[in-house]
Amino acid sequence: MPTLRNSRSMASNGQTAHLPVMLSEVVGLLAIRQDGIYVDMTVGLGGHSATMLEELGPDGQLIGIDRDDAALSRAAERLTDERVRLVKGRFSEVGEIIAGLGINAVDGLLFDLGVSMLQLREHERGFSFMSDARLDMRMDASDGRSAWEVVNRYSEKELQRILTEYGEEPHFRKIAKRIVGARQASPVNTCKELADIVLQAYGGRGKTHPATRTFQAIRIEVNSELDELRKGLSAAFGVLKPGGRNCVIAYHSLEDRIVKNVFREMGKEGSIKILTKKPLAPARDEVLRNPASRSAKLRGAEKL
Ligand SMILES: C[S@@+](CC[C@H](N)C(=O)[O-])C[C@H]1O[C@@H](n2cnc3c(N)ncnc32)[C@H](O)[C@@H]1O
Repeated sequence: MPTLRNSRSMASNGQTAHLPVMLSEVVGLLAIRQDGIYVDMTVGLGGHSATMLEELGPDGQLIGIDRDDAALSRAAERLTDERVRLVKGRFSEVGEIIAGLGINAVDGLLFDLGVSMLQLREHERGFSFMSDARLDMRMDASDGRSAWEVVNRYSEKELQRILTEYGEEPHFRKIAKRIVGARQASPVNTCKELADIVLQAYGGRGKTHPATRTFQAIRIEVNSELDELRKGLSAAFGVLKPGGRNCVIAYHSLEDRIVKNVFREMGKEGSIKILTKKPLAPARDEVLRNPASRSAKLRGAEKL
């Protein structure tokens, strides 16, 4: 069950510095009404939320959702404003969360997908292939199986499926075989051990680390990210008022394809109007300032 937290202060914490992606485009696409109720589905470190709050008037409301307790604590330090309510929960639970707050329908939602800088930088969370931390990768550290279980318990066939479906990894057979071979001697415990196995399967590295796709694939499996996205999108339109808007920033093709297809299907049914025929991309100067934004694709749709 989602738990409700109230946020406390408005001071920004320098340590959580993180550059929210495509801020002005998001604000433009959401067309924020001053007295509206908005949901930041991925409150993270509160970057987008802080800007959404600036657009809201005194009667506006912002609900910030995240499945990560650490992110919610950081967001609570930053967003101390009576208009904000922070709730722990998953995308798929948004209907329940909104009803639990006594709200019938909302004016807009934002999904900023993927992992946060906090998750990547706190090495003990086990997301980064540079770290000696135990394989974990759970966004909600209190829930479900970790990357360790996936890497050490899944069959070779299951590993192959994940690597190809969620990582689009061309060397999926070789990597799965090497993982299974390595863990016969002793379990693959750390992120670095897994990254080295992938590096050996590739026989060297190029511009991007060869383990990038493997780590993406395992992270998606651990957090059921694509399933959550599908369920979350449909639940999000369920809580929107007619005329309300739903915006999604995706960072890789698997996510963006799901958003595009869900929007397209609902568009054909006549339940939404697509606001972005093609996804919006960050401007050149944003990519220069914040290289992490380079793969972002923003799509928006209005409920009819
Ligand atoms: C890219 S970060 C968001 C950063 C945020 N926009 C900011 O400006 O600080 C994505 C966040 O979404 C959360 N998240 C990802 N999938 C989720 C899901 N299915 N349900 C709830 N939160 C999720 C992650 O825990 C992470 O904190």
